[in-house]
Amino acid sequence: MIYTKFQEMIGTKYPIIQAGMGPYSTTELSIAVAKAGGLGLVSTIGMAGGTATQATPERAQEIFGRGRPKDIIKKVIQYVYDHLKDHPDAKFGMNTPVAVDFDFAARRLIKGMIELMKEKPEMQKKFKVIVTSAGDPLPWAVDAKAKGAKKPRIPIKEELPDIVWCHVCPSVKTAKRCEKAGVDIIIASGREGGAHCSWRDVSSMVLLPEVVRTVNTPVVGAGGFADGASLAAALALGAIGIQMGTRFIATKESDFNQTWKEVLVKRTEEDTLVGRGVFGPMRFVRNPKTLEIIDATIEGASDLYRGIPCPSTNEIMKVEMSGFANLMDGLEDEAAFLGGAVTGRIHSIPTVKEMIDGIVQQAEQIITKLPGKVIKQIPA
Ligand SMILES: Cc1cc2nc3c(=O)[nH]c(=O)nc-3n(C[C@H](O)[C@H](O)[C@H](O)COP(=O)(O)O)c2cc1C
Repeated sequence: MIYTKFQEMIGTKYPIIQAGMGPYSTTELSIAVAKAGGLGLVSTIGMAGGTATQATPERAQEIFGRGRPKDIIKKVIQYVYDHLKDHPDAKFGMNTPVAVDFDFAARRLIKGMIELMKEKPEMQKKFKVIVTSAGDPLPWAVDAKAKGAKKPRIPIKEELPDIVWCHVCPSVKTAKRCEKAGVDIIIASGREGGAHCSWRDVSSMVLLPEVVRTVNTPVVGAGGFADGASLAAALALGAIGIQMGTRFIATKESDFNQTWKEVLVKRTEEDTLVGRGVFGPMRFVRNPKTLEIIDATIEGASDLYRGIPCPSTNEIMKVEMSGFANLMDGLEDEAAFLGGAVTGRIHSIPTVKEMIDGIVQQAEQIITKLPGKVIKQIPA
């Protein structure tokens, strides 16, 4: 059985994170993943609007109602926790982007989570992790000002010393900043990943080993992982585990709509494209709607690498929302599906448990058989 520092730090059965994935709150997915032995993450982007989001908005309203982001996150964490009560080993956490454009919500969401953990400390046995992403980790560090942050935010580890703080980073530069901030696990996310991705075109194959080489903090690989072969590869490149987004969408329990899941099975590795999202570049699954979004969002900023926020964030948001509004079953060409290049490696919609068990078993077989690949050892 593969056992790495990841399991030692977090207590899951497997070294696998289900990525935070807006627009949905991934409540049902995180429950299924935690039950199956992975780390399930609740996603919070949609909560900025005052409610949790699910593929059926009416159902989300019924369970969680409307309210301030701080209250919605508390309800969602409580909901997931309640569903994991009979699963002593299940572990989960939350993801919150800390990008400048999401700062107003991130502060409220993180504050809500901290309040809940202090009100109900027994929850910390299951709610183990916060994954921050899409921004600078330094303002969230303990002693942030002394460490060089201009506008310190909530010192997460001072408030909750036992929580495992992970930060998603797209570059070696950010990885060094994570280390300075005192992040516990760095998630190195290659450009091939779904939805928001890095400004620069650095794939996991290059980014992951370079981050591992540069920092002493444990590293998890993200972007392009989908099966046992890629888990084994991540370990070989120095990671202690993997985070998967796109692969988890196409599972029976995931909160995403059925058409989105089927689209991922149908598309090949050539079928994703990068346009502009609110926090930076964003990888979409190619269809008539996303081609339209890409044209509209990169107008005047065809060099995505320069980081020019053009058109304005509000305009980008409007264009994107026109695609998200069509996320309904059956609308294959009219909706904005997000997904990584790894969509080309997705060929089925299994249950979460079938998928995770299969990935780990396959990785173990590959690792065991690796010495057989060396047909001849030449003496030095
Ligand atoms: C539909 C979708 C939504 C996403 N939303 C978020 C998000 O809300 N926060 C975040 O940190 N990352 C988000 N991501 C990125 C994932 O967290 C993850 O890093 C990425 O999917 C990994 O690459 P992969 O898709 O190749 O597995 C999203 C990805 C997808 C596919």
